Amino acid sequence: MNLEIVSSEMLEQGVRKLDWIFPRLRVLNMLCEEFEREKPLKGLTIGMCLHVEPKTAGLLRVLQAGGAKVAVTGSPGTTQDDVAIALANTGISVYGCSRDKRTEHLENIRDVLRHQPQLLMDNGADLTATLIEEFSANGVIGGTEETTSGAHRLRSELRGRVSFPVIVINDSPLKRIVENEHGVGQTTVEGFLRVTNLMVPGKRFVVVGYGHCGRGIAKSLKHFGGRVTVVEIDPVRALEAGMLGIEVKDLEDTLTWGEAFITATGQSGVLTAKHMMKMSNGAVLANAGHFSTEFDLSGLKNIAKAEERLVDGIDKFVLPNGNEIFLLAEGEMINLAGGKGNPAENMDMGLALQALAIKRIAQDHVELGKGAQPVPHEINQRVATLMLNSIFDY
Ligand SMILES: NC(=O)c1ccc[n+]([C@@H]2O[C@H](COP(=O)([O-])OP(=O)(O)OC[C@H]3O[C@@H](n4cnc5c(N)ncnc54)[C@H](O)[C@@H]3O)[C@@H](O)[C@H]2O)c1
Repeated sequence: MNLEIVSSEMLEQGVRKLDWIFPRLRVLNMLCEEFEREKPLKGLTIGMCLHVEPKTAGLLRVLQAGGAKVAVTGSPGTTQDDVAIALANTGISVYGCSRDKRTEHLENIRDVLRHQPQLLMDNGADLTATLIEEFSANGVIGGTEETTSGAHRLRSELRGRVSFPVIVINDSPLKRIVENEHGVGQTTVEGFLRVTNLMVPGKRFVVVGYGHCGRGIAKSLKHFGGRVTVVEIDPVRALEAGMLGIEVKDLEDTLTWGEAFITATGQSGVLTAKHMMKMSNGAVLANAGHFSTEFDLSGLKNIAKAEERLVDGIDKFVLPNGNEIFLLAEGEMINLAGGKGNPAENMDMGLALQALAIKRIAQDHVELGKGAQPVPHEINQRVATLMLNSIFDY
């Protein structure tokens, strides 16, 4: 742990957060019993980069029950300090704290890799990329990757360089529907509401990227009474939005109309300083994609005449034309950095996929091919059935 002050109050608060969430992770609780019985991870060390928050703690319990040792860090802006302290208190090696930026994050990643894990559970491919660039992959038998952005990296910049199997959780239709669409959709709006203390009805939102996250965000905003325009470069997806009666436009045509812009593309530099110069005075920027690079923040800082932290989670930038732009949660994922992350039940499903995927890797890594690969069909079927049983009395 690299928090400066670790108080008993924070520890108690972290433990209470876990006490609320653990019983609600019904699928993970079932798997915990199975892992306790079978010990599929006995003698193995897992290096993990997943958001350090209460639902992930549920996954950690399953992995520990299965016999694994775990070293974990989160992503910039998403670590809950009290939860980190509570986890460290259970013998897990936890790195990082809520204040960490990208530089500290990469140092935390190195700290995790210094445990010489045989298994990696990654988010955004930061562990895998750093392992390949700076450490030796000898001894690593496989891993999982949680998200869309990490999957892109594994299949582009890291293609052909990963010498072990990586099961991509985001390739599962279950994860895309239950977490990206329904979870991120709901909690991105929640994060926006919490940070801004504004209302949605009547407000003009531009949702950039109509993939799984974007469609959930657009749908939630509309449910709350927001006016929504979608920007999407893939014509098939743009058509899907249009078929639901959602306005679809080129980004340039939304810039003066939008009051709030929410990105969910998984790509960098989607909103540039040039775009921001054309926005109306008072425009609000929020990001739901994995990396804050969806906004050209250095471009914004370069052109800004003044920059000021107004309140926690809201930074004001004064542009050369005198307009003010407001950036939420420093451009980090608004549902995590500005809220409590995806709902417990949604994450229960995604983390159950993680637990069963890492069990499969531990058992069958020799037979599995190298590099990124989808979640095996039978794991999807099993987790869907467990979720149907636990939530919908099916
Ligand atoms: N905040 C969270 O809790 C959370 C959870 C899951 C995924 N994510 C992240 O959200 C991002 C999106 O994930 P997804 O599953 O929706 O991905 P996706 O691939 O399904 O959707 C992304 C969409 O953005 C579109 N797009 C790309 N560049 C664009 C541009 N310049 N302008 C307009 N549209 C553009 C693509 O065509 C695609 O339709 C990723 O970074 C992912 O890692 C965040």
